Amino acid sequence: MDGYGTIFVGYPNWWGTMPMAMFTFLEHYDWSGKRICPFCTNEGSGLGDSEGDLKRACWGATVEKGISIHGAEAAQSQSKVEAWVRKLV
Ligand SMILES: Cc1cc2nc3c(=O)[nH]c(=O)nc-3n(C[C@H](O)[C@H](O)[C@H](O)COP(=O)(O)O)c2cc1C
Repeated sequence: MDGYGTIFVGYPNWWGTMPMAMFTFLEHYDWSGKRICPFCTNEGSGLGDSEGDLKRACWGATVEKGISIHGAEAAQSQSKVEAWVRKLV
């Protein structure tokens, strides 16, 4: 992670936030000065509490406005995702 400044973090919405495995993954790194771009599949809850939870789990990082993708439409969401990525890079 040391070699990266901007990190795209993707996950499904589980019970209104990231799956617990994501919290376990994230807590292994030093996030100070990093920029996190969250993308989240879900079945209607959007990003839920995940952006706020990312801010708490990744102390010192800047968390950008994330993108919500309806899970059933993920395969058809390329242009939506590309437009979001273009705004960030
Ligand atoms: C344990 C579990 C909890 C979930 N909780 C939510 C939820 O709170 N809100 C929501 O919109 N979708 C919820 N979902 C649906 C997932 O977000 C959805 O299945 C996923 O984003 C689509 O990716 P997949 O095809 O890899 O499952 C949940 C799914 C699982 C398995």
